[in-house]
Amino acid sequence: MAREALHKLLNAGNKKGYHLSSASGFRSYQTQEQLFNRYVQRDGEEAANKYSAKPGHSEHQTGLTYDVVSENTDTNFKESFGKTEEGQWIKRNAHKYGFIVRYPKDKTHITGYQYEPWHIRYVGKDTAKTLYNHRETLEEYLDLYPK
Ligand code: DAL
Ligand code: ZN
Repeated sequence: MAREALHKLLNAGNKKGYHLSSASGFRSYQTQEQLFNRYVQRDGEEAANKYSAKPGHSEHQTGLTYDVVSENTDTNFKESFGKTEEGQWIKRNAHKYGFIVRYPKDKTHITGYQYEPWHIRYVGKDTAKTLYNHRETLEEYLDLYPK
C-alpha cells in the first residue's frame, strides 16, 4: 500500500518534470546498523544521533518510509532540498498520497531529528491530511510530546 502510494506521488511529480525517485525505502536491521555505525565513525555518535536512527529505531525498517531524490538538483539529502521546487512540491503534496514529511524544520526539538525534507512516511491519507492541516508531527498527533 505504501509502495503503491509512493509510485502515485512520484508519478504526479514526474508529470511536472521533477524527475523524482526513491533512493532508499525498506532497510533491514543489518543495513541500518551498518549505516549508523558508518556515520558514528565519520561524525561521532552525538552528531550521528541527530540524523540517523539507531538500528531497531529507524522508520525505514518498517517499509513505510522513503527518501525521495530528484535528478534535477544537487541538493539531494541536504536541507537545501527543501528550498528547491521539487522539495516544495513534496512538502505541499505528499499528504494527498498519504505521506507526511516526517522531520520538519521547525520541529526538531519534538522529533529529535534534524530537518529532512526528503524523508517521507506513509500514514494513510486521512491521517496525513490531518497532520498537514494542523502542521503536526506524528509525536504530537500520538500525544507522545506534551503540548
Ligand atoms: N534518517 C532517519 C532519522 C533514519 O535513519 O531513519
Ligand atoms: Zn530517510
